[in-house]
Amino acid sequence: MSEKPKFYITTPIYYPSDHLHIGHCYTTVAADSITRYKKMRGFDTYFLTGTDEHGQKIERAAQERGVSPKEYVDKIVAGIVDLWKTYRIEYDDYIRTTDEKHIKCVQKIFKILYDKGDIYKGDYEGLYCTPCETFFTKHQLEGGKCPDCGRGVEQIKEEAYFFRLSKYQDALTKHIEDNPEFIMPQSRQNEMLNNFLRPGLEDLCVSRTTFTWGVPVTFDEGHIVYVWVDALSNYISALGYLAEDDTIFKKYWPADIHLMAKEIVRFHAITWPALLMALDIPLPKQIFGHGWLIFDGGKMSKSKGNTVDPRILAQRYGIDAVRYFLMREISFGQDGGFSNEALLQRINSDLANDLGNLLSRTVGMVDKYFGGVLPEKQAETEFDASVREKALSTVQNAESLIEKLLFSDALAEIWNFIRRMNKYTDETQPWVLAKDGSQSDKLAGVLYNLAESLRVISILIAPFMPNTPKEIRRQLNITSGTDWDDAKTFGLIPKIVKITKGDVIFPRIDIKKELDELALLGDNKEEAAVSFAPKKPEITLEDFAKTELKIGVVLSCEKVAGSDKLLNSRIKIGNETRTIVSGIAPSYTPETLIGKRVVVVTNLKPVKLRGILSEGMILAASGGDGNISVITADGETADGSEVS
Ligand code: ME8
Ligand code: MG
Repeated sequence: MSEKPKFYITTPIYYPSDHLHIGHCYTTVAADSITRYKKMRGFDTYFLTGTDEHGQKIERAAQERGVSPKEYVDKIVAGIVDLWKTYRIEYDDYIRTTDEKHIKCVQKIFKILYDKGDIYKGDYEGLYCTPCETFFTKHQLEGGKCPDCGRGVEQIKEEAYFFRLSKYQDALTKHIEDNPEFIMPQSRQNEMLNNFLRPGLEDLCVSRTTFTWGVPVTFDEGHIVYVWVDALSNYISALGYLAEDDTIFKKYWPADIHLMAKEIVRFHAITWPALLMALDIPLPKQIFGHGWLIFDGGKMSKSKGNTVDPRILAQRYGIDAVRYFLMREISFGQDGGFSNEALLQRINSDLANDLGNLLSRTVGMVDKYFGGVLPEKQAETEFDASVREKALSTVQNAESLIEKLLFSDALAEIWNFIRRMNKYTDETQPWVLAKDGSQSDKLAGVLYNLAESLRVISILIAPFMPNTPKEIRRQLNITSGTDWDDAKTFGLIPKIVKITKGDVIFPRIDIKKELDELALLGDNKEEAAVSFAPKKPEITLEDFAKTELKIGVVLSCEKVAGSDKLLNSRIKIGNETRTIVSGIAPSYTPETLIGKRVVVVTNLKPVKLRGILSEGMILAASGGDGNISVITADGETADGSEVS
């Protein structure tokens, strides 16, 4: 039995964020495209993505929303998984750092390194804001004060664990110098050597004691594993490293490519390899840091027609158009601007004019001149040989460019061929041949070549565009000759070609009108936000009846110290008075709430928020723009009345 070559690729595990944007899709679409390509080339592929769910930021964000960190991340992860489904991202596993198997693995790694002496206990010294329970560097302070609450900070010293990063400096430098493809592109490799390795590595603080939402150190209570050690380990924990069943780890590790944007190359090219060396595990073959998608003025913006919500883009233009644009517009490795206008222009020129036109012309002419079926007898024209050569060289060039992750160049090459075939149509002038009955064989030959070129194109675009190849093949009735290597033979379609006329695959867009509509959508932030929220599953009346809702009157209300979002209210609900903490401060001052008749969830398990026990929840609507509206009761029903 001959074994297929293996290919293991990863994206970063993303921080759960309420605002997914097209930038988040960039790495994932690229990873999916390479994986599809490798699969077509006969590799046994494994594609890992996931989410990085621990840390103080998540803990705080959850607190401010009055939910547990796990509830908070669960909801966001559901939306991310849904987005990947929409974009037809075919990953093999989705790792969450809150998965039990991941937590166990990180704990074992920490213990192994501790036993080995590569992790040791020391003192962490730093500037600390006590009310915020956060360490800051000098650089992060604002006017010498805490950047979060504006109060003074103090120099403190506390016990923490350190990883002997410095020990691996020489081995790592050597590895990078000996393996020029370890960090790609080249510029990032120089950056790592010059900015980090040559000046010298310091040991890394790898535990925290100031928050709890993370992986606990098993042998020292109160210590939480540093979030980057936790996060990086996902690449092996997902495969079952140190688990009872580690067959997937044995099969796929080391990774062929860790893919990411440039800002986190440092962690992957220094911290991660050093950890792996300490664990005696082979290093990944390549760390590739691509550039950034830059939005208006550097950050994403929903105004000015620059909707960057990947769901809206997918709905309006289809995922193939968006995926094509991401991979074609920007040279992989470089930064590049994202604008809706550029996207629409590419759709019109490359997809509607070039590819769409080639298909509809071909199918239209077979229909018009031969009633939908090309006859078997076909003759050559003087242009055919060069067209066949071009097809072959396109496949060869595309292969070598995709192998180097030069997606934009690969697609440019493929589109050169598409344009060549449109030109071929103009050169051979089928409409002239059609007027002369004696040229019928030649006409059939021209149309055959056009159909064949579309078969080849449908193979070459398949790694990037999951839907279009199928539609091209449906219209041309192509049922075989669709493997990658079949692109290397011109003439695989049976001599009789039968077509099925279909819709235009990429309709032209009125760019000005479309940009105006997008601008309106951008202004309507609620709509954009709603489109993100995954629909919840249907429930029965009994499910709903489990929630106890009552009218309450706000007796008093105050801000929660150290938080911009939380208000602490005393609420009278019939005979009882409860304390409830809610994240509504962005839209309400405490005074405005007093006397309001609100709706309270009274059978919610109490939770501690910033040290205050919150006994229920006030119902409120939150818009995508950050506005919050507390739901109040109309009429005269007494507080304590049940809401149903
Ligand atoms: O850094 N352009 O997560 P993150 C290009 N959890 N790529 C972009 C992008 C943009 N505008 N915006 C996001 C983290 N990305 C850590 C990673 S890995 C062990 C832990 C992509 O949610 C790009 O891949 O901030 C970038 O590196 C990644 O999202 C950062 O995601
Ligand atoms: Mg980031």
